[in-house]
Amino acid sequence: MKIFLIGFMGCGKTTLGKKLASKMDYAFIDVDKEFENQTGTTIAAYFAAHGEDGFRRKESEVLQQTDYPEKSIIATGGGAPCFFDNMDWMNKNGLTLYLSLSPKALASRLEGAAEERPLIKGLKGQQLEDFIAGKLAEREAYYNKAELVIAGLNQTPEKVAQIVEPYLK
Ligand code: S3P
Repeated sequence: MKIFLIGFMGCGKTTLGKKLASKMDYAFIDVDKEFENQTGTTIAAYFAAHGEDGFRRKESEVLQQTDYPEKSIIATGGGAPCFFDNMDWMNKNGLTLYLSLSPKALASRLEGAAEERPLIKGLKGQQLEDFIAGKLAEREAYYNKAELVIAGLNQTPEKVAQIVEPYLK
């Protein structure tokens, strides 16, 4: 089973994904990393050169055309579910799991980690939290199409492994 972790920037997809993969003996793939490997550049540089539209087209191509191992945990970029048919594609091709966190929790986790993320570059404090609240409100309709929604804070890999277990085949 391919397990797609989705959710806002900073919700812990990569950190949880790596731990979950090692616990379940699955491969771990980070689509942001895959994007950078396949394009030979950073997301920030790609955004600057091609704009958000160009980035979203390429992101969708990388997401849908990467050859994932059958047993893999896949961490996706925070915006990926909200463009093109990406969310439906993930639901057809694996198990989707939304890691849900409040704007406040996300803002505190993203404080100081905004530089490499073009959408929030230069934002901090209340401005960062307000931006997140607005963006999350737009995105939740997509995120909530996930098969599983879990409150992301305080989730141990053990607990999440138990939650996904009945869905594995
Ligand atoms: C984005 C999230 C980032 C990355 C890009 C855009 C977004 O991924 O894909 O900066 O639109 O939310 P992470 O969620 O892994 O930070």
